[in-house]
Amino acid sequence: MPLDDSDVARLACPTCRGALSHAGGALRCGGCGARWPIEGGLARLYREEEVRGNDRLLRHIYDALPSWHDPSVRYLLALFQAGSERAVRDGYMPRLELSSLRLRPDGSPPRILEVGIGTGANLPLVRRDLPCGLPVEIWGVDLSAGMLGVLRRRLAASGHRDVRLAMADAHALPFPDGSFDRVFHTGAAGSYRDPARALAEMARVAAPGTPIVVVDEQLDPSRPLPLVQRALFRLVTFYEPRPHAPVEHLPAGARDVLTEQVSRFFYCLRFRMPQAS
Ligand SMILES: C[S@@+](CC[C@H](N)C(=O)[O-])C[C@H]1O[C@@H](n2cnc3c(N)ncnc32)[C@H](O)[C@@H]1O
Ligand SMILES: [Zn+2]
Repeated sequence: MPLDDSDVARLACPTCRGALSHAGGALRCGGCGARWPIEGGLARLYREEEVRGNDRLLRHIYDALPSWHDPSVRYLLALFQAGSERAVRDGYMPRLELSSLRLRPDGSPPRILEVGIGTGANLPLVRRDLPCGLPVEIWGVDLSAGMLGVLRRRLAASGHRDVRLAMADAHALPFPDGSFDRVFHTGAAGSYRDPARALAEMARVAAPGTPIVVVDEQLDPSRPLPLVQRALFRLVTFYEPRPHAPVEHLPAGARDVLTEQVSRFFYCLRFRMPQAS
């Protein structure tokens, strides 16, 4: 679903945070004048030259093989870590506290952001855990046009119209401060070129007090795993020497920090930012 003017009003220039508006097949920033192209109906809200290192390497893989992602997670990863994809996802979903979401004070739907939404595998679980009948506005951003292409075809086939998408980088989210009532990310934090900056961005766009949930690979430190499983873990995290929950990169002032192991291969990190005093 292309972004209409009211959707664009929710966005902000990822460079200067100025307001954006439609201008001749692109979005134009009223602050710095930057032009952000719309390609195939999706706004590209990042600068190619800023995408470096593992972000760039992995985007090649996601763009080349987007339809392999879901089967790999469902079957291969599940086999490697001896636990189902569903068990992993059910392990972190409660940390989003979706059941306590309500309409915003002005009566508008609460807003949920998934950073690195990929093909949208979390969406059915998000919908499952929301209070019955509550309208929501879901936003998803991702660097990979290929992954978003798969998701857009799925959304079109399912008729869900509550999801807005943009191509954007976790390191420079295209939203104003405090925009979202829930913010989460699953599956790429270990490859972020600057995890502190990406976490700071998630914290910035979250409303004060909202849970911010980050999930990615970490070998379960509490139990010795067989050599073969450790070798398979190394294989799936080839890009990072020590994949782990990035607690050392949490923004200053983060509170209510909780790190859990949700399966042999995955951690879940939850934190909140304080209300402004
Ligand atoms: C392993 S997939 C997970 C997708 C989805 N969250 C899930 O749980 O199935 C990781 C996704 O993060 C995206 N990604 C990686 N680095 C990113 C970045 N710096 N900014 C935005 N998205 C990124 C990838 O393109 C990919 O779609
Ligand atoms: Zn700008």
